[in-house]
Amino acid sequence: MIVEFAPAKLNLALHVTGRRADGYHLLDSLVCFAAIGDRIALTPGPLSLTIDGPFAAGLSADADNLCLRAARLAGGQAAITLTKALPVASGIGGGSADAAAVLRGLARMGHPLPDRSERLGADVPVCLAGSPARMQGIGELLTPLPALPTLHLVLVNPGVAVPTPAIFARLGRRDNPPLPPVPAFPDAPALIGWLQTVRNDLQPPAIAAAPVIADVLQALEASGARLARMSGSGATCFGLFPDASQAAAAAAALARNGWWAVASELAPDPRPR
Ligand code: C5P
Repeated sequence: MIVEFAPAKLNLALHVTGRRADGYHLLDSLVCFAAIGDRIALTPGPLSLTIDGPFAAGLSADADNLCLRAARLAGGQAAITLTKALPVASGIGGGSADAAAVLRGLARMGHPLPDRSERLGADVPVCLAGSPARMQGIGELLTPLPALPTLHLVLVNPGVAVPTPAIFARLGRRDNPPLPPVPAFPDAPALIGWLQTVRNDLQPPAIAAAPVIADVLQALEASGARLARMSGSGATCFGLFPDASQAAAAAAALARNGWWAVASELAPDPRPR
């Protein structure tokens, strides 16, 4: 059996810089990965998908499931088990991370990675890379970034589904400036200072669609986050905390609102040093 981790993707910043003729939006985003995620297990055999784990109920294992679409694109045969630990459709990669993990696992079983993995979803290429990157185009243009400093994260999802196309459709403007050049960050305060100069352009339309997102961001700040921001098209938000104990205390306090709230760190960087 081959096991692959599918870490949560975080858009530390996301600017919407344009729109393509086919309606997809051009993005400029700083992406990293948390140490929390789903798990994919593959065993050789006819293609199948079983889903278990705390968020299994939100997903169906039908032919449209991204894990199966990924396996078909790679021409791979395997019995896939997806253990869903992350909330579904929540701005932290979810389906894209799972699809990327299936592709990585199939590659270990001898099926080459397919070209143009963005056809599965705009976040699949960056999830395949699995390390900090600046993501442009609709998600297919990746510039690897140096390893980021240690970050103490809290991820919070208030349990509202915010469909990605509806959030893009609510954007006031689609020609925002790109991110400034992304420097190497010596420590977390330097990264947080830089992040305060940039945004997630999808945050205001997501708050308009689901006002509870503003409550989550305010609660993160009130519990000591140095920066609180939404990831992707939401509704999951993250806070950056000065140390692990403050992050753990904040996650426990935020969970008392009935929200999914977990403290985490950045995922180990898979690149050779
Ligand atoms: O690629 P993915 O399936 O994740 O995208 C879901 C939807 O989000 C797309 O159908 C599109 O409406 C919107 N989207 C977009 N621009 C992107 C990524 C997604 O408009 N770069």
